[in-house]
Amino acid sequence: VPPAQVRIVEVGPRDGLQNIPDKISTSTKIELIRRLHETGLTAIELTSVVSPRAVPQLSDCRDLLGHSFVQDLLSSPRQQSPEAGLMRWPVLVPNVKGLEIAVQNGVREVAVFISATEGFSRANIKCSVEEGIARAREVTRLATKAGLAVRGYVSCIFEDPYNGPTPHHAVLHCVKSLLDAGCHEVSLGDTLGVGSPANVHSLLEYLTGHDIPITRLAGHFHDTYGQAVANVWEAYRYGVRVFDSSVAGLGGCPYAPGAKGNVATEDVVYMFQNAGISTGVDLTKLAETGEWVANELGQINSSRVGRALLCKT
Ligand code: HMG
Ligand code: MG
Repeated sequence: VPPAQVRIVEVGPRDGLQNIPDKISTSTKIELIRRLHETGLTAIELTSVVSPRAVPQLSDCRDLLGHSFVQDLLSSPRQQSPEAGLMRWPVLVPNVKGLEIAVQNGVREVAVFISATEGFSRANIKCSVEEGIARAREVTRLATKAGLAVRGYVSCIFEDPYNGPTPHHAVLHCVKSLLDAGCHEVSLGDTLGVGSPANVHSLLEYLTGHDIPITRLAGHFHDTYGQAVANVWEAYRYGVRVFDSSVAGLGGCPYAPGAKGNVATEDVVYMFQNAGISTGVDLTKLAETGEWVANELGQINSSRVGRALLCKT
């Protein structure tokens, strides 16, 4: 991505919805993806293919992926957007079973995920960090062989809900393992949303000081302590050009109790636009989509920018 551009990976349909207890219909999820697509977003994480017991909300992933609108997205020629490169529709998978279901449905990019810490790893994917790495490596190998692109996530980059603060070297080990396995980029997940810009700076300094190219890193900041927009900016200043965010600031993980949603896409787009940095996203349409989905789900619209633009502040 050229210097004056950033790529936003909208994770609303996956991270944004996975922790909402009330059942959301598949058609509402499809409508969300459709509206997000219309804003000009070029990367949208569609859903996850995980154990239905682990995340009941996304247990309709086969129906969603098989829907004609999603099939059209997945089967469209790999469009190059002048703004942000390849159009991407990743799907989160924890294991080979998830990969197989994704492939059967025409998915061309998957995201694998591990934790830098033992506690969250055991809670979220029922295995140790090393077992998680081995699983992610195998999924990445098979996916790559099948011609898919693979994105990686490392969770708990700053803190684990059970183990406390995360040492930088644990994050480095995970990032290195995912890149060596063949992930095209690794998204750094502040799962609990506790980090602040000084923590972002210090971790990026450590990772790049240990030969991790900044161009292979993305930022995934939850906003529990209200630091997420500042964290995105700090990472941008350090050279990161890919950021995950959720429309209306939706998001959370069933295995990270108390953690709030992702940084709101509206807030990220507003911040970059004001700095003359292109995201390719229509902010008005995005704000309307945020308000629509918040109403539809009975959730608070957590985007300050969205609420301000729609005069709801
Ligand atoms: P396990 O219980 O050890 O797995 O869970 P298992 O292989 O024994 O399977 C248990 C059951 O799940 C079986 O069904 C499997 O068939 C089924 P049963 O025979 O009992 O009826 N199953 C699956 N079904 C559909 N798709 C699959 C799949 N795999 C197994 N892929 C496992 C281990 C990893 C499967 C489970 O713990 C799991 O699915 N975990 C995922 C939890 C999750 O999705 N968490 C949220 C996403 S991560 C996140 O939010 C963080 C992130 O945003 C970054 C950040 O913020 O830090 C990415
Ligand atoms: Mg997350």
